Amino acid sequence: MTDEMSTVLPPYRIKVVEPIPFLTADERRAAYAAAGHNPFNLRADQITVDLLSDSGTGATSAEQEAAAARGDESYAGARSWFRFRDEVRDLTGYPHVLPVHQGRAAERIVFSALLRPGQICVSNTHFDTTHANVELAGAHTLDLPCPQARDLDSDEPFKGDIDLGALADVLAGPDGDRVGLVLMTITNNGLGAQPVSMANLEAVAALCRRHRVPFLLDAARFAENAWLVREREAGYSDWTPRQIATRAFQLADGCLVSLKKDGLAPVGGFIGLRNAELYAVCEANLIATEGFSTYGGLAGQDLERIAQGLREVVDVHYLRSRAASTARLATLINEAGVDTVRPAGVHALYLNAGRLLPHLEPAQFPGHSLASELYLRGGIRCAELGSLYLGAVDDEHRLLQPAPFELVRLAIPRRVYTDAHLDYVAETLGRIAKDPERVRGYRIVSAPALLRHFKVRLEPIA
Ligand SMILES: Cc1ncc(COP(=O)(O)O)c(C=O)c1O
Repeated sequence: MTDEMSTVLPPYRIKVVEPIPFLTADERRAAYAAAGHNPFNLRADQITVDLLSDSGTGATSAEQEAAAARGDESYAGARSWFRFRDEVRDLTGYPHVLPVHQGRAAERIVFSALLRPGQICVSNTHFDTTHANVELAGAHTLDLPCPQARDLDSDEPFKGDIDLGALADVLAGPDGDRVGLVLMTITNNGLGAQPVSMANLEAVAALCRRHRVPFLLDAARFAENAWLVREREAGYSDWTPRQIATRAFQLADGCLVSLKKDGLAPVGGFIGLRNAELYAVCEANLIATEGFSTYGGLAGQDLERIAQGLREVVDVHYLRSRAASTARLATLINEAGVDTVRPAGVHALYLNAGRLLPHLEPAQFPGHSLASELYLRGGIRCAELGSLYLGAVDDEHRLLQPAPFELVRLAIPRRVYTDAHLDYVAETLGRIAKDPERVRGYRIVSAPALLRHFKVRLEPIA
C-alpha cells in the first residue's frame, strides 16, 4: 500500500508517552555551566531532545512488554533463556550463544580468551570501548578504513568497508603472524554510520581463511547494515533484511553484539561463536564475571524483550521508515546550511562542524562548540566526534594533534522521536547556521587520562 506513496509510514502508533522538559534559555545556560559545559554531565530532565546516543534509548513495543511479563526468572535454564537462545541461533546460525549485560562485556570476555599480549586486532574501525578492551587484553588495534571514507561529501555507498588491499598487505607482511583477530564493525559507528558491503565481508572472510586468522563481527547494528545492503548493493534488493543479516553472520566465525541498538532493548548483548573450545573458555569467564551462562547478567524479562525485539528490528516497514526519517532529517539540515557526512546512514547523522565554524581552530574544539550551541539554543543534547574526543592533548590540556575531522553526532533513538522533534532539531541548526561566527570556542579545564570526553570539564573562551 505505502509503496506507491511518497510518505513513508512507521509501522506502529504511539500508546505510552513520556513528557519532555522545556527549559528557558537562562535555565539551560545555568545547567550547562554546572555540568562543566559537558553534555555527558547534564541531567536527562534538563534536555528537550536527547540525541546523545541510540544505545539503550529506544522505545519497546506492546509485544515486547507482554513478553517481558512472561519472563522466567529462574536462576538456571529459564524458559526465557531458551527463547532468547533459539532466536539468536536462528538469526545468526552460530551454535554457541552466550548472553551478556551489554556489548563491552562481550568484548572483554572474547578478547581476553582470544588475544595474546603483543597481538594485533585489525578492523574497519574499532568503537571506543572495543579499542579499550583490545588494549586491556594487552593487544593493539589497527584501523584500516577504506580510502573512500576520507571524503565526507561523496555519495559512495559503502564507506564503512575495510581497505582490502591494506588488510591483505598486513596479513601477508612481517606483522602478519601477530594478527590475532579481524573484527568488522557493521555499521561503522566510528566512521559516520557508514555500512559495510557484503562483497567486502566476503573478501575479508576469504583473506582470514587463507591466513587462518579468526574473523568476528561487531554487529551492534546488523539490521541497519542489512537494510543499507538491500538498498545499495547489487543483487540484494529482493532479499529480506533478515536473510542479509544471517548471510553476514554466516561469513564470520562469530560475533559480539550490543543488543542496546538493534536488539530494541534497554540492556543486553550476546556472543555468538562457531568454535566449541573458544566458547568453553568464554563460558567459564562469563560465569565468573557476568552470571550463569543461561542469563549472563540479564533478567528473564530482558531476554524476552530482546527475543521479541530481534524479530521486530528486521521488519521491512520498520527499517524503511527509520532510514527515511534519518534521510529526511539530513535533507532538512543540509537545506538549513549545515553539511552532514554523506550519504546519510540510519542510526545517526554527523554534522561537519569544522566547515560550519571556520573561525574556530581545532584547539578551540569546533565540534564541541556546535554541540554546546545546540543545547544552549534548543535543549538538544548530542556528542562531539572531533578533536575533543579523538585529538591528542598534553598535560596542560593543549591540543597537540587534532582529529582528522571536527564532527558532531546526532544519534537517533529507535521509535522515540517523531518527525516534528527532528524538524525542531533542523530548525535550531538553521538558526545557528545564520550567524555561525557568534558560536564561541571552548578550552579544557580538567580531564581524565582515559576516555576523556565522558568526564572532561570545559569553559567557553571569552
Ligand atoms: C559498534 C559498537 N560496538 C560496541 C559497542 C558497545 O556496546 P555497549 O554500549 O552495549 O557496551 C557500541 C556501543 O555504542 C558500538 O556502537
